[in-house]
Amino acid sequence: PEPVESIIGRLSATVPDYPQPGVVFRDLTPVFADGPALRSIVHALIDPFAGQFDAVAGIEARGFLLAAAGAYASGSGVVTVRKKGKLPRRVYAEDYTLEYGTATLELHMDDLRPGMRVLILDDVLATGGTLAAAARLFERAGVQVSGFGVVLELAGLRGRANLAGRRIRSLVRE
Ligand code: PRP
Ligand code: MG
Repeated sequence: PEPVESIIGRLSATVPDYPQPGVVFRDLTPVFADGPALRSIVHALIDPFAGQFDAVAGIEARGFLLAAAGAYASGSGVVTVRKKGKLPRRVYAEDYTLEYGTATLELHMDDLRPGMRVLILDDVLATGGTLAAAARLFERAGVQVSGFGVVLELAGLRGRANLAGRRIRSLVRE
């Protein structure tokens, strides 16, 4: 079978000057749109963590796609880490730094019970601020973070340094 890295390289699109001049954006939507490719990347993300998680969390918005598929494939539940103001009940909130300013992620306090283990998925690891904030949310809920899975790691931004001590599975590093 074709390696996942090759599948992602073949199907992803490269968009120059998006979202701003000088930035080259890697668009993964064609990878998600391909049935066999989606299945391959989801299994490549979750299989190394088999038996080590009770739920899969996805980070709004693009992480939702991977997390729902990964939860379904592994027979576990899916949990949403959402941008501020989207969840209706009591939440934990964690701020994180963006290129300009800050943003906030939230998690329902009782979506998972203390002692459960979660695998956190997202499409891209850039600075790591997003995944680090998500991990803090689960820790506040008493939930153990088994690890992180991302399709694409932008290694030059050194996001791993923000996630020290945790297991990270990235399918493509560039
Ligand atoms: C992008 C991407 C990751 C995050 C990575 O999401 O989908 O979630 O940035 O960046 P970081 O490692 O520097 O924190 P974005 O915030 O653009 O939102 P979206 O998924 O809703 O498009
Ligand atoms: Mg995102």
